[in-house]
Amino acid sequence: MRHLLSVRDLDRAAAVGILDIAEDMAEVAGRAVPKLPTLRGRTVANLFFEDSTRTRLSFEAAAKRLSAEVITFSAKGSSVSKGESLKDTAQTIAAMGVDAIVLRHSASGAARVLAESGWIDAAVVNAGDGTHEHPTQALLDAFSIRARLHGPGSRGRDLHGVRVTIVGDILHSRVARSNVWLLSSLGARVTLVAPATLLPVGVGAWPVRVLHDLDDAVDEGPDAIMMLRVQAERMTAAYFPSEREYGRVWGLDGARFGRLPADTMVLHPGPMNRGLEISTAAADSAASLVLSQVANGVSIRMAVLYLVLAGASGTAMDGFPA
Ligand code: NCD
Repeated sequence: MRHLLSVRDLDRAAAVGILDIAEDMAEVAGRAVPKLPTLRGRTVANLFFEDSTRTRLSFEAAAKRLSAEVITFSAKGSSVSKGESLKDTAQTIAAMGVDAIVLRHSASGAARVLAESGWIDAAVVNAGDGTHEHPTQALLDAFSIRARLHGPGSRGRDLHGVRVTIVGDILHSRVARSNVWLLSSLGARVTLVAPATLLPVGVGAWPVRVLHDLDDAVDEGPDAIMMLRVQAERMTAAYFPSEREYGRVWGLDGARFGRLPADTMVLHPGPMNRGLEISTAAADSAASLVLSQVANGVSIRMAVLYLVLAGASGTAMDGFPA
């Protein structure tokens, strides 16, 4: 794998393969010294043009556990046009000698532009491009669901027939888009639940079913329910009357959570707006995968960095568990 730009580049076999490598990486995390020498001498640059806590730290932890060097660039919005500032920054960093660039950018398509422009020679991993995609988030979500369903017997399995309901601000969510495509490649049945104002035009062409009532969706008792953050920073208009109203109609409050089957998994990509799209009762429950998602994110990013930096060249995985 040369780059990871979109989950739409992954078929079922490729996606299951990444999840399986991440299983091996998760075993490393349980060791006394949770580190592999695999990427020794390689440099990974985190290029973050948008704010992030967990994704940036997770990529950093993943690179370090594979013994790579890590350099990190964080930039807030710039007045320079996005193409130019991305090109200049990427070329500057690439000139320092980097093997992979992990890019988060507010422009949809930025990662593909960087990978295919010829500006740089490094592998590119998309860590979120505008409202377009967030491939490693979808991979870690699929990994978390698979691990909860099958435990140590997860290897080689997809999510055939698993019913996943994604709720909330679909319009602004790259997490939702990546999940829709990846979950359907893995055989899951995806339902979206959102106010009409927060559904993208063209959702009719997605491999999903759409509901407009969260109570109906809860009463179906899905296998997993994924609550999305209300992405206020991307909202340029009034998409709903008030936060109070949103929480009442579209939030996983205590009452709705109480009606879900006890084994329905609750996911949220973070950061959570507690009391808005998700209640503390749901977020901190035994059904919640929120902290597993964070832990599994490191294993997924180790797998992806391994594949883009060592996988293609056939480099042996020194110290890699059998
Ligand atoms: C997501 C993102 O940035 O797209 N967060 C994350 O990566 N954990 C979702 C969000 O910000 O709501």
